[in-house]
Amino acid sequence: ADEKLAYKAKIQTLLKEKNAVLVAHYYTDPEIQALAEETGGFVGDSLEMAKFGNQHPASTLVVCGVRFMGESAKILTPEKTVLMPTLEAECSLDLGCPADKFTEFCDAHPDHTVVVYANTSAAVKARADWVVTSSIALEIVEHLDSEDKKIIWGPDRHLGSYIQKQTGAEMLLWQGECVVHDEFSAKALRDMKHLHPDAAILVHPESPASVVALADAVGSTSQLIKAAKTLPQTKLIVATDKGIFFKMQQIVPEKELIEAPTAGAGATCRSCAHCPWMAMNGLKAIEAGLREGGDLHEIFVDDELREKSLIPLNRMLDFAA
Ligand code: 13P
Ligand code: SF4
Repeated sequence: ADEKLAYKAKIQTLLKEKNAVLVAHYYTDPEIQALAEETGGFVGDSLEMAKFGNQHPASTLVVCGVRFMGESAKILTPEKTVLMPTLEAECSLDLGCPADKFTEFCDAHPDHTVVVYANTSAAVKARADWVVTSSIALEIVEHLDSEDKKIIWGPDRHLGSYIQKQTGAEMLLWQGECVVHDEFSAKALRDMKHLHPDAAILVHPESPASVVALADAVGSTSQLIKAAKTLPQTKLIVATDKGIFFKMQQIVPEKELIEAPTAGAGATCRSCAHCPWMAMNGLKAIEAGLREGGDLHEIFVDDELREKSLIPLNRMLDFAA
């Protein structure tokens, strides 16, 4: 505990010295989210993180999340220094969608509008017409469908098929998945619901369709937190990364929150509902990132890629405004 306090104190001093601010995702560990809040920083979903970094006056952003979030911050605010606790914090969706293969896929269907999830590299975004996050994907695809656009969607196949079902849009899906949400099990969730028949089920749409089908509310992290408040039930079973419980419980202290079950709970699941890359954002790593900067921590995006990827990112932000 003393060691943690010492790291927090060092981080606070460094934040002031470097005119820096912490921008954390809901999936980081509770102590990181709390630190971001205590130090005047921000906790939010991936769209809100991008917006916050864009408008905040600090000259350095410390992005506590995964690499694509740091890259998006740099693309939007190249004049700022963007640091990450570790550049090894990846995302299975980003890793499963290499730019060269994705470009081939797009080139094979030149009459399609390319929509990519924010969870991708700058190079994949640079090939896209639109970037979306889970909180705005549905509205953007509805808009494109209303203009009769055919869509290439990448990389999350579960989110893509959810949106396809909701909108009826014509979509070709890249076959990627999130290691956290892909683990949720409809069978285990049904069994859990039998034990808590009065509970509502909240599901992030990166989960398999069979899990989404059991949901009372489907949405991005921020949308699920809002649903926790507005749903009448006092017991909530939540199928997303367990990092979300920190903020959700703050918003609904009176409600009982229950983790949705993963298929191979215990020994065999790949993530057990906590992203291994989000978990890399510890106090020690944040302190090192702020103090050292440099190649191990600073995000750089090649100028040409930055200019190309800014176009679809800004399209999303303008649409959201
Ligand atoms: P949102 O915060 O946009 O819901 O993103 C989910 C996610 O998986 C980020 O890693
Ligand atoms: Fe990627 Fe899933 Fe981790 Fe989010 S939770 S960063 S989508 S692997």
